[in-house]
Amino acid sequence: MSEFVKVANVSDIPDPGKITLEVGDRLVVVVHVDGEFYCIDDVCTHDGGPLGDGEMCGFELACPRHGAKFDVRTGVPSTMPATEPTESHQLKIQGEDVLVSLNNQEGDTMALTEDAVMEELKKVIDPELFVNIVDLGLIYGVSIVDREDEQKDVKIDMTMTSPACPAGPQLIGNSKQIVGQMEDVCEVEVKIVLDPPWSPDRMTDDARDQLGIF
Ligand code: FES
Repeated sequence: MSEFVKVANVSDIPDPGKITLEVGDRLVVVVHVDGEFYCIDDVCTHDGGPLGDGEMCGFELACPRHGAKFDVRTGVPSTMPATEPTESHQLKIQGEDVLVSLNNQEGDTMALTEDAVMEELKKVIDPELFVNIVDLGLIYGVSIVDREDEQKDVKIDMTMTSPACPAGPQLIGNSKQIVGQMEDVCEVEVKIVLDPPWSPDRMTDDARDQLGIF
């Protein structure tokens, strides 16, 4: 991950709106939607289409070439023909400044730890509550298992807000996809754990703030 650099002023980007910028040697799209800012690569993983030229619809940005849609919060595609996520980058607001830190820069060697996996899992957003699954308290545990070929398997214990949660398959699939892209990861196993059952007191303060629960 690179240092945070200022890329724009908050007032440069209407809500909803987006701008395409060059940061370091990358073209990225900074998106403003629902009061929040996000940053993803300006590159469609299907065939390199310029996502910054695409139409926005809520949290989705459609590639202008063949229409694949990407979730701007995670970079994960929700429709064909794209199947791989585009890179998403860290973004923070300081006063009037929009700051971006690029992921997966040359030389990045993030060690594979349980904490690093938890950070990656924050990119998985519950589609009904719009809060990431870590802050929702859905992750009961992460373990990393060494393999003989020097790669590692990751095992994730995940719960659901209810046993019949319709978002379950999507949360499992997105978690496997995002963690599976981490360096040195071979297989990702997600085990659903319903005991103890999830309860709202597992949520972090950030999640409570986002949901307006005090
Ligand atoms: S290049 Fe984006 S959908 Fe084909």
